[in-house]
Amino acid sequence: EQINKGKYEHYMQKEIHEQPESLTTTMRGRLICGGSCKSQTVLLGGLKDHLKTIRRSRRIVFIGCGTSYNAALAARPILEELSGVPVTMEIASDLLDRQGPIYREDTTVFVSQSGETADTLRALEYALENGALCVGITNTVGSAIARHTHCGVHINAGCEIGVASTKAYTSQIVVMAMLALAIGADTISNQARREAIIDGLFDLPSKVREALKLDQEMKELAKLLMNEQSLLVFGRGYNYATALEGALKVKEVALMHSEGILAGEMKHGPLALVDETLPIFVIATHDACFSKQQSVIHQLHARKGRLIVMCSKGDAASVCPGESCRVIEVPHVEDCLQPVVNIVPLQLLAYHLTVLRGYNVDQPRNLAKSVTTE
Ligand code: AGP
Repeated sequence: EQINKGKYEHYMQKEIHEQPESLTTTMRGRLICGGSCKSQTVLLGGLKDHLKTIRRSRRIVFIGCGTSYNAALAARPILEELSGVPVTMEIASDLLDRQGPIYREDTTVFVSQSGETADTLRALEYALENGALCVGITNTVGSAIARHTHCGVHINAGCEIGVASTKAYTSQIVVMAMLALAIGADTISNQARREAIIDGLFDLPSKVREALKLDQEMKELAKLLMNEQSLLVFGRGYNYATALEGALKVKEVALMHSEGILAGEMKHGPLALVDETLPIFVIATHDACFSKQQSVIHQLHARKGRLIVMCSKGDAASVCPGESCRVIEVPHVEDCLQPVVNIVPLQLLAYHLTVLRGYNVDQPRNLAKSVTTE
């Protein structure tokens, strides 16, 4: 299949902008509306014979590398909430280095865009040897991970060419949210929450389209930041993963040091870095952690931090501590889906920073799209 850049200058740019469509494809045929749309269900064909086993697991263990790991981290809270099963996270290489415990009663979930990442594949072999149920979430039909897992879900995001993963990330989160809905489908007490999430999923492509309108604003921000040495990204709760993933994008393509920081850890070290020169991006969209993030913003401001705050539309006044603070407003969606919207401005920022700094967008130095050696 010949894929060209169409009207875009780079594949990464094209892949960022095609997310409303890739998300639609990811969900196609999987969100089923019964009758008046009151009885909605999630259908993940590749998992239907295994859901009972997954519900009875001792743990769900997510395993992946880089962006795929971050996507699993973003989905972890909703998996825990809807399944009631403890969810743990493993970076594939670290699991192998430690030879960490994997049990027969575990469900291990291997998340990989390419389905060929060596560390993730080795970790899959290790989980198979230990007798766990192995589930694959990949973007590549026929890939090694898709072939060797017991069951799985394809994210159907379409071919991703840019080394920096963008549309696969958002589709991975959506697939894992659907996995949470499928596992939690039997629980009556979750009903209202499940319906709200399903409604949110139907609306998600249009909300991402709205977030993409921030393109010019992120280009202006990139002009402001292009000569900086470093950028910190603070997040927590559902958006800790957004902070890690945003920082990964900035360092990977724009070749600028960037670090994702769990805001709850601020006083345990990172606060010492704050001064009037270092730019700090704080994700403070509306969810259960909002008031804690407001307090983080005030503490950073009190130490003269150079703040850029991402908040939900209409919240600018309640997050902005002073005129020096720049605000990025994003559309509000159901809390567990907010990471899908929130990553978009950060992807755009990383893209524009890369172009302005004159680096190779689609082939960052030293990196390969698929890491097939350990
Ligand atoms: C993403 O932008 C990176 N290029 C990288 O972290 C990637 O996500 C990682 O290598 C895992 O790849 P996979 O999803 O194909 O397994």
